[in-house]
Amino acid sequence: MDLELREALYLQAKEWVLEAGKTIREKINDPLTIDTKSDPNDLVTTMDKGTEYFLITNIKETYPEHFIISEEGYGDELQSLDGTVWIIDPIDGTMNFVHQKRNFAISVGIYHDGVGEIGLIYDVMADQLYSAKRGGGAYKNKTALPRLSEQKSFYESILGLNHFWLCENRLVDEKVIQNLVKTIRGSRTYGSAALEFASVAEGIMDGYMTMDLAPWDIAAGIVIVDEVGGRTTNAFGEQINLLQKNSVLTCNPAIQEQLINDYTKKGRK
Ligand code: IPD
Ligand code: CA
Ligand code: CA
Ligand code: CA
Repeated sequence: MDLELREALYLQAKEWVLEAGKTIREKINDPLTIDTKSDPNDLVTTMDKGTEYFLITNIKETYPEHFIISEEGYGDELQSLDGTVWIIDPIDGTMNFVHQKRNFAISVGIYHDGVGEIGLIYDVMADQLYSAKRGGGAYKNKTALPRLSEQKSFYESILGLNHFWLCENRLVDEKVIQNLVKTIRGSRTYGSAALEFASVAEGIMDGYMTMDLAPWDIAAGIVIVDEVGGRTTNAFGEQINLLQKNSVLTCNPAIQEQLINDYTKKGRK
């Protein structure tokens, strides 16, 4: 992608994301309509839909030749990542949004011919924007994020793991995951995949592993984590496909091999 074009796109996307976030903050105490989707804990609100609608109307008006993959139904049905594709989660962490009124993010990844060019993750209530452009480093607001330390000890690492790993699951023997949790220093569950990617990029968490994420949960995070030298694959070290759901492992490269070879691959069902 042409660098000048990418810079303009980045500035425009950032402006829309910050504006959408401001609207959410202003309306955070307004009454909400909450619906459920695939199960009683899979929530969606008028704010998820309104935010997606705002972003997509702006994109379609300004860049009619671009494509969009998004969670709440206003995007396109795509069979390929050819061209410029925006991959959008209007609110990542809807359960947190509903129950906590914080710890949720707007996540926007922009890909060109399948290559991640721009990543924006906006922690709305903390007013913290994680951003990256391919080859241009990653930032938290205006501060550059340092590259991840190559000296990270596996035993001193903190991993983002949600409770599904500890229940019976179809991917990896839960005993292997219990063993992993006993071996590392600690585990965390934030409830927003985008913010967990941002935490890995910031180096306050050394990895995040989850079973079943959609493209919009991870598209921006992949670009941001890449820019600090982190790696993202599926839970078994294989390439992610952004046209479908994937298991996901994003982490400091220093712990990737051990995590995959000694744990996920060993416990693979
Ligand atoms: C969810 C969050 C959550 C993850 C779920 C996602 P949503 O996204 O990222 O942390 O565990 O798998 O679906 O639905 O709040 O946008
Ligand atoms: Ca959702
Ligand atoms: Ca999400
Ligand atoms: Ca969402």
